[in-house]
Amino acid sequence: MTGFGMKMGIAAIAMLGLATLPAAAQTVKVGLILTYSGPQGSLGDEIDKGLSLYIKTHEKDLPAGVKLELIRRDDTGPNPDVAKRLAQELIARDGVNLLAGLVWTPNANAVAALSAEAKVPVVVMNAAGVTTTRLSPYVARVSFTMWQTSFPLGAWTAHQGLKHAYIAVSDYAPGHDSEEAFTKGFTAGGGEIVGAVRFPVKSPDFVPFVQRIKDAKPDVVFVFVPAGAQAAQFMKAYTELGLKEQGIKLVGTQDLLPEDELAHMGDSALGVVSAGTWSATSARPQNKEFIAAWKESYGTEVVPTYMAVAGWDGMAAIFAVIKGTKGNIDPDKAMAILKGWQNPDSPRGPIMIDPETRDIIENVYIRRVERQGDHLGNVEFETIPQVKDPWKEQNPEKK
Ligand code: PHB
Repeated sequence: MTGFGMKMGIAAIAMLGLATLPAAAQTVKVGLILTYSGPQGSLGDEIDKGLSLYIKTHEKDLPAGVKLELIRRDDTGPNPDVAKRLAQELIARDGVNLLAGLVWTPNANAVAALSAEAKVPVVVMNAAGVTTTRLSPYVARVSFTMWQTSFPLGAWTAHQGLKHAYIAVSDYAPGHDSEEAFTKGFTAGGGEIVGAVRFPVKSPDFVPFVQRIKDAKPDVVFVFVPAGAQAAQFMKAYTELGLKEQGIKLVGTQDLLPEDELAHMGDSALGVVSAGTWSATSARPQNKEFIAAWKESYGTEVVPTYMAVAGWDGMAAIFAVIKGTKGNIDPDKAMAILKGWQNPDSPRGPIMIDPETRDIIENVYIRRVERQGDHLGNVEFETIPQVKDPWKEQNPEKK
């Protein structure tokens, strides 16, 4: 409302003899940096659908007079320079109160550095490289770290009596993290790493790499590729080169088996074990409600993945900040609310932002791909409760 409009409004109310004024309209601006286009555009779409669904179902809970405005920007993929420029514009030109989204670790790390200078809180909804939250006191993460999934999976794999593992990861920070974490969990359990390959981050041709894995004849191969089309492309190479028939077991982080790609994988994915933070098949009532709300809004064409759930939970955390500040976002107050924020009712189970590290504490599920009627699903069979980022446990911050 302009000053003139405001005065007129007050005058009109005074004339009507009303005792109370309506709350002043307040807009909280959230800048969303996500990948909406290009070969990995499905990832931003999932996160956006998840957070938009949260807004749709909870908008009524916002404090009276407070409006939420999302300003969406497309970083088009793992391009830190683009993400940094978008964050700069969102802060300087659009005057956002918070930044959120961020699929990719390099992008999140570039934005984290900026958030420390500009004092703008960032809610990371996917990027899982372990260092991100250490780069700025204004970053909180609602997704997971690669260490959270890969380290327990390494231990689980060794426990199966599988002795020789091969490692195949995407050649950038989260891939390197997952390699280190799986190796640590697997070797501590008595296993041995017999070889490793790293895939290019953009447009990899998996066939020559998978051939090398096949030639090495390990008992098991551990894989991290970013979720989205690459997951199905890797599985295609694994199937076509016949690794399963040769008896080479496959394990991976949840990124290899996102629900929206399972449909493109076919039966070769059956039996593949992964570590993840959410599965569509989970019978938790909160998960059933989430899936029902999703179907009602989006139909059955696009299925939700753990990224959509991180979008949902990230928006729940942003709502807590808006409610706790009544829409007057002070960056330090926002961070104080995010630190220790918890939700016992997330679709993935109880979650909490660790006040020490600003990373998320959550259950990690070991899942196996099974056929469920006409589609494949990740079925949870073991739960490691309330896992903190193991890397930060092992590498405490020097104060
Ligand atoms: C990341 O860049 O941190 C990242 C991207 C996609 C994933 C997981 C991690 O599936």
